[in-house]
Amino acid sequence: MGGIDRLREEFERDCKGVSSLKQLEGLRIKYLGRKGLLTQRLRALSALPPAERPAAGKEINVLKRHIEAEIKRREADLSAAELKKKASTGFVDITVPGKYIPSGSQHPVNRVLEEIVEIFVFMGFTVEEGPEVELDYYNFEALNIPRDHPARDMQDTFYVRTDVEGHGDAGAESDVVLRTHTSPVQIRVMERQTPPLRFIAPGKVYRCDADVSHTPMFHQVEGLMVGEDITFSHLKSLLKLFIHSLFSPDTPVRFRPSYFPFTEPSAEIDIGCILCRGEGCRVCKGTGWLEVLGAGMVHPKVFECVGYDTERYTGFAFGMGVERLTMLKFGIDDIRLFYENDLRFLRQF
Ligand code: PHE
Repeated sequence: MGGIDRLREEFERDCKGVSSLKQLEGLRIKYLGRKGLLTQRLRALSALPPAERPAAGKEINVLKRHIEAEIKRREADLSAAELKKKASTGFVDITVPGKYIPSGSQHPVNRVLEEIVEIFVFMGFTVEEGPEVELDYYNFEALNIPRDHPARDMQDTFYVRTDVEGHGDAGAESDVVLRTHTSPVQIRVMERQTPPLRFIAPGKVYRCDADVSHTPMFHQVEGLMVGEDITFSHLKSLLKLFIHSLFSPDTPVRFRPSYFPFTEPSAEIDIGCILCRGEGCRVCKGTGWLEVLGAGMVHPKVFECVGYDTERYTGFAFGMGVERLTMLKFGIDDIRLFYENDLRFLRQF
């Protein structure tokens, strides 16, 4: 049945000439339709002597499968091309799946910062703010930090040049700094308000420092409560309640004597290590405890600076690092991850 080869050639030629789905359907009918060329051949098999039938049938079927496959392939090509053409002429295919627009998420530090603010607002504290570029007076002087205090070391404090305009002495120490803590907000608020008062002051602070646990900028939340008969017991219970709200209610809390120039007595507050549950690990350096807050009773010298009657009023202040609390809450071991903007990190929150 040599005619098969000619039929194949004819199909290939026809196929090349097809340029639309409609023409392709015509081609399918011509070869595979009920009266199609191939169908006719298959029917004609019965006219052959029985001995020739298997070989002839096989030949036809091979061609048939080839034609079917070819038509399927062309159909895919043509429909893609036609869709593209329609799209470019303004056709909107509403069945095409929409584009995936990734939604952003809140930065972990902001998330914890908001949580901290919420806890204190719930306890009746207001929220105050102060400038990040601060006067030496508010950042140090009024907080009873004398000129020669180590916290003023050039290593820790970013001094702001204020002599750039003229021919001033470029080496002179400036009176303007990037605040190294949020404590100056205590002074600014007390200067304009009279007791009783209780507020927190969240915000950015700056220190000339960078390693796994320090970045040049980080966040603190300051707290201050002043009134008549405010005692250390109030401070203790308030901070305990705060820690139990931020972490879990069974978190161990301990107050340790410490020193800050603007509080007396002063304390540092530790919580039982979140990671090892107090057994001792790398994060708590084997002690089972983690320092999370600085606090104390406001030093009389600070009250004097803002003109408060030290016989009448007492108060407490506290401060905490938000990055540190965030690291503990989520088990993050390198503070720099917060500021590298690596989406693989940020997407987890
Ligand atoms: N300002 C202190 C610091 O940055 C923290 C602190 C605030 C301590 C208020 C006592 C009272 O380390």
